[in-house]
Amino acid sequence: MNDIQQEIARLSEEINRHNYYYYMLDDPKISDYDFDQLLQRLIDLERQYPEYVQPDSPTQRVGGTITKQFESAAHIYPMLSLGNTYSEGDLTEFDTRVHDLLNGSVEYVCELKYDGVAISLIYEHGILTRAVTRGDGSRGDVVTANVKTIGSVPLSLAGDYPDLLEARGEIIMPYDSFNALNAEREEIGEQPFANPRNAASGSLKLQNSAEVAKRGLSFKLYYALGENLPEDNHYARLRKLHEWGFRFPDVMEKVDGLPGVLGFIRTWNEQRKQLPYPIDGIVIKVNDFAQQQQVGATAKSPRWAIAYKFKAERVSTPLLSVDFQVGRTGIITPVANLKPVSLAGTVVKRATLNNRDFIADMDIREGDFLFVEKGGEIIPKIVGVDMEKRAPEANPVRFVDVCPLCGTTLVQNEGEAGVFCPNELHCAPQIRGRLEHFISRKAMNIDSLGEGKIEVLYAQGLVRNAADLYDLTFDKLFGLEKVIEDENGKSKTLSFKEKTTQNILNGIEQSKNVPFERVLYALGVRFVGEVTAKKLARRFKNIDAIASATQEELVEVEDVGERVAESVIQYFNNTENLEMVMRLRTAGLQMEAGEESQAASDKLAGMNIIVSGVFSVPRDELKRLIEQNGGKNVSSISKNTTYVLAGDKMGPEKRKKAESLGIPIISEEEFFRMIGNL
Ligand code: IVH
Repeated sequence: MNDIQQEIARLSEEINRHNYYYYMLDDPKISDYDFDQLLQRLIDLERQYPEYVQPDSPTQRVGGTITKQFESAAHIYPMLSLGNTYSEGDLTEFDTRVHDLLNGSVEYVCELKYDGVAISLIYEHGILTRAVTRGDGSRGDVVTANVKTIGSVPLSLAGDYPDLLEARGEIIMPYDSFNALNAEREEIGEQPFANPRNAASGSLKLQNSAEVAKRGLSFKLYYALGENLPEDNHYARLRKLHEWGFRFPDVMEKVDGLPGVLGFIRTWNEQRKQLPYPIDGIVIKVNDFAQQQQVGATAKSPRWAIAYKFKAERVSTPLLSVDFQVGRTGIITPVANLKPVSLAGTVVKRATLNNRDFIADMDIREGDFLFVEKGGEIIPKIVGVDMEKRAPEANPVRFVDVCPLCGTTLVQNEGEAGVFCPNELHCAPQIRGRLEHFISRKAMNIDSLGEGKIEVLYAQGLVRNAADLYDLTFDKLFGLEKVIEDENGKSKTLSFKEKTTQNILNGIEQSKNVPFERVLYALGVRFVGEVTAKKLARRFKNIDAIASATQEELVEVEDVGERVAESVIQYFNNTENLEMVMRLRTAGLQMEAGEESQAASDKLAGMNIIVSGVFSVPRDELKRLIEQNGGKNVSSISKNTTYVLAGDKMGPEKRKKAESLGIPIISEEEFFRMIGNL
């Protein structure tokens, strides 16, 4: 080993040790800052000497690998599921079945049933070589690069580990990470995740592992497989895995017989409310491996283990009134105002009634007591009417006939459950909704504006349609203020200071480079999604040709049917739309497909790239290529930056900042390789 190799080994060992203190023992020994310094030194060395990068280097936690398509792989051992029970009676039956198949007493192990995504981790000679999702139980998706970014997943093992080990567990998203992620998504106008499980699952499938690294995922170990593994019981084996480098479960108890199991369940049914991550039940396992073998398994699930799922908590509370909310697409959602009631740790005051059919099917009447349930712990659900408490003369809840915001008569299309307000162009939430779509990431990608800011601009009367955005000036924006109230009545003041204002204007200015096909998508023509917009742009080449296309010409385009064609024609028949499109053109938006629309790819989709320094080609050319391949040019480095594309003479400040945030710096050559131009 030369000096460099030694330094790399020493740093890796030190970083791994601190990772261990932090993730496995919850006992950090150095500050985050000092840790980042160590990691940065290693990142720099590895960049300088790529030939010495080890496969289990702790720098892999930072991510940066792009997976275009997840390959599938067969599991070495099938990934079974567990039988579910919901009552103590079912558990008694489970216990009786187990005892019937065994002689003597049984020791059970009780664990938490983590509510996330199952994962299989393969370690060959102590190195994590593959991470595979459950899939259909016999094959799953290979998500190794993404899983390597998760701090609580050991990249390599220590001690007397076997040559081949399969560790199984659940990838979960703790509530803190989940709430932060959803807040960020709402801010940029993206749909929030419904629950931490969906968020974890969505995160594992991200193409850029550097993004996964930011999602705050965590791994919870629950099982190990392999040939001739040490120990003769489950508890001791997980202890052994802990010696090799895994975190031992936060909660895991050996209990005696059924009474012990029931005690554990009662305790955790209450205490789960204090856990920082979601669980949806308790898993009970026979501890002794010989006994597990004796009890056996069916094709689907082991007989030696069972999941007890917590019942959703349910209360009944009176319906006080119904609000009718108008969504971004004009859909009317009835929302029940309930007499506040305490449920699973929070006070419930409102719950959705979904749509007109929901109210009719449940026959909800004025003054009814409604049953409210909270299952996934996040959103309360109305599950029925408490008929015993219904007043004899109660009138059915009446659904509105006109839009509560603009007074337009509502419409329901045949075969659709939703009732909507057809006044697309002048109904406030629909105007805001269209603006939010216009600025969204896949459309014009103006991320310096978000839902909250659009609301302010709308409230101040500054924007009524997308073209108005391009008339905004520093003076119009600077100093704007609005107090925004969230669901819980908490208020915060949004104010446009100098930096915010400048960012907004820069974002709007940059959007003028967005290619035509995305402009077309951004217009929000009904039924014209991203793909259709691309196809229309390629076929017709410019906005005038699309606006004057006939029904016959439109349906010639692949995937464009009558419904889409009609919608396009209707859009361009409307003079207000036409006028807006004209203004957008005058403002300088791309209304013609460049050559790039032929060659465009989405290789850089979702990536924010900053170009800095001197290159062999003009900088603008690089910027054009970034846009053309679905990426976004950004001008300042933040934690949301994906890459710094660095040329010669890149500013030292920028480099320092990129390094301190752990943002990968790529060369011109690497960039061209990424987009397939080399
Ligand atoms: S043991 C062969 N233990 O629940 C038994 N599973 O349907 C393997 N789960 O897919 C499962 N927490 O993803 C086990 N402590 C725990 C668990 C757990 C969550 C998940 C797992 C599995 C599903 C069972």
